[in-house]
Amino acid sequence: MTTDDQLAKRYERIHGQLKDLLTKTSNTTARMSTIAALLHHKFSSFFWTGFYLLENGDLIVGPYQGPLACQILERDKGVCWAGIREKKSIVVPNIHEFPGHIACDSRSNSEIVIPLPDKKNNPRGVLDVDSQKLNAFSEIDKKWLEKIVLLI
Ligand code: SME
Repeated sequence: MTTDDQLAKRYERIHGQLKDLLTKTSNTTARMSTIAALLHHKFSSFFWTGFYLLENGDLIVGPYQGPLACQILERDKGVCWAGIREKKSIVVPNIHEFPGHIACDSRSNSEIVIPLPDKKNNPRGVLDVDSQKLNAFSEIDKKWLEKIVLLI
């Protein structure tokens, strides 16, 4: 069992590790790949960990770890698009209850989406994490993943 306190301390360590790792290049693909790989391998409950990026009005998959994912997400449908539209993080305890959810892999049961703000605070994409567990993500995940995407 991980307590909230233990989880927050883990994220604090991972955030520090990422800050050290992300000193080599300003290339966003390299930075996103590093974030996806570290998070995915640190948290055993993360089943799919990666980015969807806005390109000419479409959400296209970016660097990720985990099973094969959809390359393009149908417009204005699902959790990632909701994060873009609402410009806020979305925690979905049970994806089967989220209207329009896009299931790239039927083994996912819960999900968190964190928008990536550009310089004008408009979303340029999202960090998306899926879990096979129901209710895998809490306010602590939300708070720390929001901090982590600012490192990109
Ligand atoms: N479930 C997401 C699609 C991306 S996959 O989870 C990797 C959605 O509903 O937007």
